[in-house]
Amino acid sequence: MKLHTKAVHAGDRKSQGPGRPIPVTTPIVTASSFVYDTIETTDKVFAHEVPGYAYARYDSPTLNALDELCTALENGHGALTCSTGMAALEIALKTALLDRRKKVVAASALYGATINLLLKVFEPFGVETTFVDICDLDKVAAAIDEEKPGAVLMETISNPLLRVGAIDKVAALCQAAGAALIVDNTFATPLLCRPIELGANLVVHSLTKYLAGHGDVMGGLIVSDQAHFDSLRSLSRTYGPVLGPFEAYLTMRGIKTFPLRMERQCANARKIAAALGQNPKIERVYFTGDPSHPDASTIQRLFPADTVGAMVSFDIRGAGREEVFAFMNRLRLIVKGTSLGDVHSLMLYPAIASHRDLSPKQRERLGIRDSLVRLSAGIEDADDIIADLTQALSPSA
Ligand SMILES: Cc1ncc(COP(=O)(O)O)c(C=O)c1O
Repeated sequence: MKLHTKAVHAGDRKSQGPGRPIPVTTPIVTASSFVYDTIETTDKVFAHEVPGYAYARYDSPTLNALDELCTALENGHGALTCSTGMAALEIALKTALLDRRKKVVAASALYGATINLLLKVFEPFGVETTFVDICDLDKVAAAIDEEKPGAVLMETISNPLLRVGAIDKVAALCQAAGAALIVDNTFATPLLCRPIELGANLVVHSLTKYLAGHGDVMGGLIVSDQAHFDSLRSLSRTYGPVLGPFEAYLTMRGIKTFPLRMERQCANARKIAAALGQNPKIERVYFTGDPSHPDASTIQRLFPADTVGAMVSFDIRGAGREEVFAFMNRLRLIVKGTSLGDVHSLMLYPAIASHRDLSPKQRERLGIRDSLVRLSAGIEDADDIIADLTQALSPSA
């Protein structure tokens, strides 16, 4: 089945027993535990000798349906959904490191909170991280060789400068060194790239973003290959970062239209990037569809033609914090929200949001200047988004 079909059908319409009607969409089941006619059946369910549910921290119908859908989208072996994208990253790292050396090699260009997760949560527990330019394969090979990490962590499209590493080549390096590769696929989505098909072991998403897509859900997802799934499930069942059934329902509903939304958002981003490239107020545009993008050959190799991303970042010429604030305050349509991937276009200022907790020096090292803003293209008419940007950039025009 192709992705658009899976998005609509996978996980839904489970049999409710012989002769019972089948709901066309998965119902929200709120029960925290499940009972059977006899305690012997409960015993067998706990022992996985018969299918069923015992306790909602382990399994529950709405979540299982969403897990099945997400497994299908990413072509993995199994999936687990949890309360946030950060919780998903934490459990993915723990799964990867469970029986490996407690050392991580991570892309230097990552979401700010992910950098903090490594430095402020994992490091105090003895897991050190070495950061490397994930787009420089010689440096990645050297870091893996030197550090002998248990896990390598990267984003398919980095936040916010939109660099794209060669997942398949990094995966080959990891495999040769016995390290697990974790890929945060939030920005790319399975429409652009399915990292497990390229050799990654664990794929992470903030469901909060494109997959749920409507700005009304917090959620995280880990999709696993076969080798890591039992460990992932066992960790999750033990410390229980599960998603609530209402969020699972909303996410499933959102995913049905995610490929359509993402196609439109990618098309809008392309038009927006082209318009910004012509605007004299703009110093530099970052977009994965730019033919002169530093990772253009990787993008052409790994992503479908023309559907290469829905994010556009840009530096406003000569702007500092004050000018960026003034520009953002002039926006009338684009929502100044600290997220991405929603149906509405969103503008974020990394220096005060996604990368706020990094020092100015750390941001500078990553190339995140005070003049940089990040736009998540929505599904509106591209002309309206461009008109809003144009009037906000040139208030007197
Ligand atoms: C690339 C990426 N990964 C993970 C996260 C964390 O997701 P959440 O906010 O759902 O915890 C974010 C949030 O912005 C993100 O942009």
